[in-house]
Amino acid sequence: MKKIENCKLIRKSEIAEGIFDFTILSEDISKEAQCGQFLHINCGESTFLRRPISICDANNGEVRFIFEVKGEGTSSLAKKEIGDYIDVMGPLGHGFEIKDNIKNPVIIGGGIGVFPLYKLAKCLDNPVVFLGFRNKSRVVMEKEFDTISDMVIVGTDDGSYGYNGYIASAMEQYLASHECDMIYSCGPMPMLRAVKRLAEDRGIKCQLSLEQRMGCGIGACLVCSCETHKDGTEQYAKVCTNGPVFYSEEVTLND
Ligand code: FES
Repeated sequence: MKKIENCKLIRKSEIAEGIFDFTILSEDISKEAQCGQFLHINCGESTFLRRPISICDANNGEVRFIFEVKGEGTSSLAKKEIGDYIDVMGPLGHGFEIKDNIKNPVIIGGGIGVFPLYKLAKCLDNPVVFLGFRNKSRVVMEKEFDTISDMVIVGTDDGSYGYNGYIASAMEQYLASHECDMIYSCGPMPMLRAVKRLAEDRGIKCQLSLEQRMGCGIGACLVCSCETHKDGTEQYAKVCTNGPVFYSEEVTLND
């Protein structure tokens, strides 16, 4: 059973409207956290269920996570102030696999899916990074990715900033003339479907981090089941424990 800890909130900022950047103190989580894992957070008295929130970064006893206010739970979490304590379970889940033999990694994230890719980008050797957002007001973390990678391409769906269009299309143009031996992705389902198709059409290995509604977060309730076809047979996997990161060929991303 994963430990539940009360962690002190030491930094807080709103980096875009309704998107909060929190840093908490936890030696254990900071030491254990792997890229792509998540925390299961008790958001306060107004909600019964915990909320799964990806780890954005973790080191030196500090753990950073960024979330968007989407409902009662995250709204009450956003009201926490520096010095308050937050009830956190984690780190949970199966994160991204980082292999030494990967020479040309590409990262592609969309919307709030860019956050778990930050720690990953720091662990890879100068990955090419694609970040997609709805519009200019939603663009976040560009400068931070810029400090890690020589090539960060930012795009917006409405063309108000950077590449004009879906970020998967920008990656498609890049892949037409560049080597790539692993794609790592997290973001909205239409983007993940496009990334999976682009990777598989080109025979590129691809790891996808799936967002799923969760209950227990530890494999006990089946709320987070997703269809997989590991080893050629159809089965169901639990996103909270078998994922959230899967190889693209393992998962069926239904419309
Ligand atoms: Fe309960 Fe995954 S959230 S099994």
